[in-house]
Amino acid sequence: MTISRGDVVLVTGASGAIGFEIAAQAAEAGAVVAVHGSHAKSVAKAIERLRARVAEAQLIAAPADFREEGAIEAMVEKLAVAAGRLDAVIHCGITGGAGVAGPFATATPASFGEHAALVLGSFQRLCFAALPHLAVRGGTIIGFASDAGKFASPRQSVIGAAFGGVMSFARNLALEVSRQGVRVHCISPSFVADTPAFEKHAARAGTAFDRAGLGLPTPKDIAPVALFLCGPDAAKITGQIISINGGLNA
Ligand SMILES: NC(=O)c1ccc[n+]([C@@H]2O[C@H](COP(=O)([O-])OP(=O)(O)OC[C@H]3O[C@@H](n4cnc5c(N)ncnc54)[C@H](OP(=O)(O)O)[C@@H]3O)[C@@H](O)[C@H]2O)c1
Repeated sequence: MTISRGDVVLVTGASGAIGFEIAAQAAEAGAVVAVHGSHAKSVAKAIERLRARVAEAQLIAAPADFREEGAIEAMVEKLAVAAGRLDAVIHCGITGGAGVAGPFATATPASFGEHAALVLGSFQRLCFAALPHLAVRGGTIIGFASDAGKFASPRQSVIGAAFGGVMSFARNLALEVSRQGVRVHCISPSFVADTPAFEKHAARAGTAFDRAGLGLPTPKDIAPVALFLCGPDAAKITGQIISINGGLNA
């Protein structure tokens, strides 16, 4: 069973590829979806596309640039007031910035630190802001990472370090907040077909196509897993790092 009708779910990165599909499937299931992107224009565009797909969708705009101090906290508070509750946060925002995917020697200490602070820091701040609201009824937090945080991958030392941190944070937090009825997970893709990020690395992805025995996943394969984890049938599952990679790594 998927997320429940009427649940309020914040999907960060809903203006992006994977987040959009999660937001769309959540709206199809009858959830109230807070649609996040880094700025108002991208959020408005995502909302327009969501309405074209799910006419009756209940959507709330939630723009926030995570590089700005206080932006995450303000977004969560505004949403909690507007919706009156918060049941799930699916953090699908942020991909690699300049200088973070590539040989280690090209990642300056500044770019390394900046990326780690943005990826890990935004997840930590989001959890901190959302937890009091999620604890009211018992809710779910899902972070997004990448298999580079789990398996050694070429040219991914910076991304791998940041996502390894996200995974470890999620597992430790899951243990701590389980008594508040809050579940915490991480979804860890590798290459996700039908996304701009994938197109950017299409040359390297050639071998990934061959190695993924089940075929590489698309956002349509990822969204149902995220929404299942937010639903009642996943009520006793927490602290899991779930790779969705078509058999690329195991
Ligand atoms: N696609 C893949 O192949 C792949 C593989 C492994 C892991 N992942 C992970 O899966 C997640 C989603 O990936 P995706 O491919 O769907 O990403 P995407 O299409 O690039 O979307 C990224 C999202 O993050 C938002 N964002 C970027 N910078 C931000 C900032 N400073 N503050 C707030 N939001 C910001 C973007 O908002 P705007 O568009 O409004 O700027 C957009 O909604 C990411 O964590 C990614 O690392 C993806």
